[in-house]
Formats: sequence, C-alpha cells, structure tokens
Amino acid sequence: MYSAREISKNIYWVGGNDRRLEQFENLFPLENGISYNSYLFLDEKTAIIDTVDDDITDQYLENITKLMNGRDLDYLVINHMEPDHCGNIENLVRRYPNVKVVGNKKSFDLFKQFYNMDISKNEMLVAEGDELDLGEHKLKFIFAPMVHWPEVMMNVETTKGILFSADAFGVFGALTGNLFDDETDYRNLYLDEARRYYSNIVGKFGAQVQMVFKKLKDYDINMICSLHGPIFRTEKDLILSLYDKWSRYEPEEEGVVLFYGSMYGNTANAVDALANKLGERGVKNMRIFDVSKTHYSYIISEIFKYSHMVVAAPTYNMGLYHPMASVLDDMIALGLKNRKVALISNHSWASAADKIMREKFSKMKNMEILNDSFDINSRMKDHEEDKLDELADIIANSVLNPEKKENE
Ligand code: FEO
Repeated sequence: MYSAREISKNIYWVGGNDRRLEQFENLFPLENGISYNSYLFLDEKTAIIDTVDDDITDQYLENITKLMNGRDLDYLVINHMEPDHCGNIENLVRRYPNVKVVGNKKSFDLFKQFYNMDISKNEMLVAEGDELDLGEHKLKFIFAPMVHWPEVMMNVETTKGILFSADAFGVFGALTGNLFDDETDYRNLYLDEARRYYSNIVGKFGAQVQMVFKKLKDYDINMICSLHGPIFRTEKDLILSLYDKWSRYEPEEEGVVLFYGSMYGNTANAVDALANKLGERGVKNMRIFDVSKTHYSYIISEIFKYSHMVVAAPTYNMGLYHPMASVLDDMIALGLKNRKVALISNHSWASAADKIMREKFSKMKNMEILNDSFDINSRMKDHEEDKLDELADIIANSVLNPEKKENE
C-alpha cells in the first residue's frame, strides 16, 4: 500500500524508511534506521525533488504511482547525486520517458559515473538563481557545493517559503509517522542524532555551510525539508542556529569529553580518577568514552558539542594506540578546531603516545593544549595524586572561567 503525506497544499512527502540498515554509508551505526525523503508537487506541472535509496524502491514507486494517478511527470529535480537519493532516477525515467531531469553539469557528470542509462535527452541544466515555474509553486535554485558533495543544490519554494535543503538539517533515524518536528519530541528523540549526522557527514564543510547561509538570507523560510528525517516548521530556528554554530566549529556549551584507549584498564583508571576530581571542582557536562568500544562517530559528535576534551592513550608498537590514532585522524580530516585539550599518555618501557598526539593536534587549528606531558608509567599510584590534582586544577580552571581565559 502507498504511504505518503501531504506537507503543504499539493506538495507530498513520498519517501520511506529503512529500519534494517545497520550502517549508513556502510560506516555509521544506525540505532533506528534512516529515512529517505522525496517530495512530489502536483501543480499545473508535476515535479519530484530527489528520489530514494534502492533499498526502498518498491514502496517509493507505489507512493509515486498512487499520487500521480496517471499524470505524467514533468520534472525530476536532482539536488544531490549520492546513491542514497539517486537509486530511483533510472526507474522514474523509464516510467516517465519525457521527464526533464533537472541538475547542473556536476550532477550529470556524477550520474554518468554511477549509472549506465543514457539520460542526455532528458537533461535540463540549471544555473544558480534559476527559477522553475510549476504553476502555483516556484522553485528557486541555490547551489550548495560540498554540502555534502560538489553538485549539491537546494531549492526555495518562494510562494510558501519552503526550503528543500538536500542533506543539510538531516538526521540519522527513521520517521515514525510524525513527519513534522512539532508532532514529535525532536529535541529528545532526534537532536543528538542530528548532531552526529552533521559532525560526521557534513562536518568537514563548515565554510561551505556558511556560504549557503549567506545565500539563504535573501529568503523567508517557513519550513525546511531535508532528505533525511523530520520536516522543520517549529524548530527551524533551533536547527538553523545549531548549524551556524557547528559550521563555525564553535562549541554549544562548556563541558568536557574524556575519551581514552586502554588495553588493561590502567589509562581508563586515570581518566576516571581525573573525572571525579573535575566533578569535585564543579565541572559539569562530562562525557567519557572508550575508543575501543564506542564508535568514533559518537565521540566526534560530542566533541562538536563541548568546549574541552581529555584525550588519553597508551604507546603501542612505538606509535599511538591505533583506535585513538584513528579518532584523532578523523578530527584532522573533519577540520575540527577551536577546542581546549588535555593529554594523558601511558607507557611501560618506551614512550611515543604523548609526542604523536601533540603532533596530530598541531595539524588542527586553534586547539589549545592545556598541559605539559602527563605520561603514566603503566598505572598511576596513590602517591602520584598531586600530579592528577594539578591537571584537574588546570582543566577545571579553563572550563569554569572561559571569559577570563579569553581576556587574559
Ligand atoms: Fe543523504 Fe549525501 O547523502
């Protein structure tokens, strides 16, 4: 049976959910699946904005067939050529051979790379600022390169103020029938996964997100329709302000993410002892993760949220314990910056971790290392408590007095 909803007069959500998928991009764990959103206009002209992953092709084509009710499809707008949204372009072109497939040069180049079908006769090239007149509805094209791939476009439906934002403002997690943010508890049910989605999928492209914000200033936006997750109408200011903050790599709040690698629990012991001392000193909002246990995407997400981090890991094969090296390399790749960092290393006969961690942080911008080398010999002893107190004082002072630090 078809499964769709009207989201505004003559505009329909025709997407679907995959709750079986274990990992998005075969990389990021999905605790509750993912939605693939697609939008259908039944105006004087008919149009679809983006298709869906081929995992949900049957549902998708059933939705389209029912709502089209025998009409022909005039336009298929391709805002994003990643396969999770392009899995049904070929199917729609086969069903509607006269359809104009709307994209830019990069969209069509990518289409040829991924697919065999020749759609050159269907191609309709658009440029930045072009308008597609559907009758009552008008779609303005805004180019958004690298949010998240180079061909990405967004559209503003200018008569209603609806932004079709491609991946931007998306979230991990399937939909529940509560399609709009105000029909569900967005802040508690989706926001953490929206942050994990942004930081890991779009996080590298903060400058490009800022460019799009400049372009969107010209439009009144009442509703935001992403390709993943709920549609925003009540919480749009929340997600816009968070995207502004995340894309400037500014923390949402003061707090400490402590993450460690630990073979036998000795580095973990130091981190737990330090965390208790930070708690005693009034530091709030601490999160602790074991990099060998928790998927790095959750740690990256918390790092985007909070102002400080404690990074603790042992030397391993005269290098850095590799699950930690992997997290730090991902932070470099994502262009993470503007955080305060304390480092703890551990070694039993030869020491390399502290040096390597410092080298990795030196490749990130504006990462302030708060402490000198804190290199444990296998396991901390009670008589070394002064050292840990000293480190706790440094971190707590930085967390609890952020303005003072900046004005010094
Ligand atoms: Fe949802 Fe960049 O794909």
